[in-house]
Amino acid sequence: MARTKVRKIGILTGGGDCPGLNAVIRGVTKPAQDNGMSVFGIIDGFEGLVEGRARELKNEDVSGILARGGTILGSSNKGDPFHWPVEKEGKIEIVDKSNAALRNYEIWGLDALIAIGGDGTMHICNKLSQMGINVIGVPKTIDNDLEATDLTFGHDSAVYVVSEALDRLHTTASSHHRVIVVEVMGRYAGWIALNGGLAGGADIILSPEIPFSWEKIYDKILNREIMGKKFSLVCVAEGAKPMGGGMITKGEDIKRHDPVQLGGIAEYVAKKIEKNTKRETRVTVLGHTQRGGSPTPYDRILSTKFGAFAIQLAAEGKFGRMVALKGSEIKNVKIEDAIARQKLVKHDTQALIAAKAVGISFGDS
Ligand code: F6P
Repeated sequence: MARTKVRKIGILTGGGDCPGLNAVIRGVTKPAQDNGMSVFGIIDGFEGLVEGRARELKNEDVSGILARGGTILGSSNKGDPFHWPVEKEGKIEIVDKSNAALRNYEIWGLDALIAIGGDGTMHICNKLSQMGINVIGVPKTIDNDLEATDLTFGHDSAVYVVSEALDRLHTTASSHHRVIVVEVMGRYAGWIALNGGLAGGADIILSPEIPFSWEKIYDKILNREIMGKKFSLVCVAEGAKPMGGGMITKGEDIKRHDPVQLGGIAEYVAKKIEKNTKRETRVTVLGHTQRGGSPTPYDRILSTKFGAFAIQLAAEGKFGRMVALKGSEIKNVKIEDAIARQKLVKHDTQALIAAKAVGISFGDS
């Protein structure tokens, strides 16, 4: 590692958790200590940065956490310093607390801040970087919707959960001649539905990027029956929508960077299928099982590489950058490029082409 003036590094985990966060914290802390830097773990993401909550991390704090899910630092998706919720007379007011974040960074004497997070976290990083904080971003999210990196860690673990669930649902759906509709996460991107559905052998995948036709779904289920398959598995992304219709939401939380809470599409799709095909239909919502538990070996490796690379960037004084996977190599990109747009499933995405080639319907053709 190149010699550096960076001596004290803050690290935080922002937004929704996912498997692999602890592996990154370990991947940063061990090499940092070995190179004479100290690491300051900020508690509960940006909330801790604004409120001044942190503790020093030593090798013993990160020993044995490689395979542990969640984050030893805690996380929050309500602590955006630029969009800080304050309760006044029973109402929520949004205020700017970024100066408090900057003040704590200075009081703690940090030379750099490594922020591990998704889209929301990278937006905050970009703004903090413009205020003069030496930020390095590490991309995580089960949704895999961050542009400028081929993959975010956490996605592979979520896909594993979906694939395993579909394997289990396959046997029961087949025994009872049922249609089972499985709702997966992913927000506005269909990566979890596509990759999980492909790995788990779904018959129909519904993705936010491809508005579906009800008739195509019914046809697929009934045609399978003609071919002797009296059951079907539908893997639906929480953000999927019918042609001419909108996404199904559960509510709004204005304390968050993105207030929309998605959920309920599986129930909606299942009811329509049952009514229009007269086939018995059940629903499974995988929800936060996709975010919990131990990271897959692939995510453990990727997270460790991301962490070790982030600390190297800090040592080299390369700030305002996000660690990124490009092909099989770890590179760095400008944070502002990473947040320019969301990475969505496209018509020429190879996994989509392969899925269609093996007969999976996306409700569009
Ligand atoms: O971004 C990760 C994610 O799990 C999304 O897939 C999902 O829409 C959202 O977070 C759920 O957030 P929460 O944990 O606040 O319910």
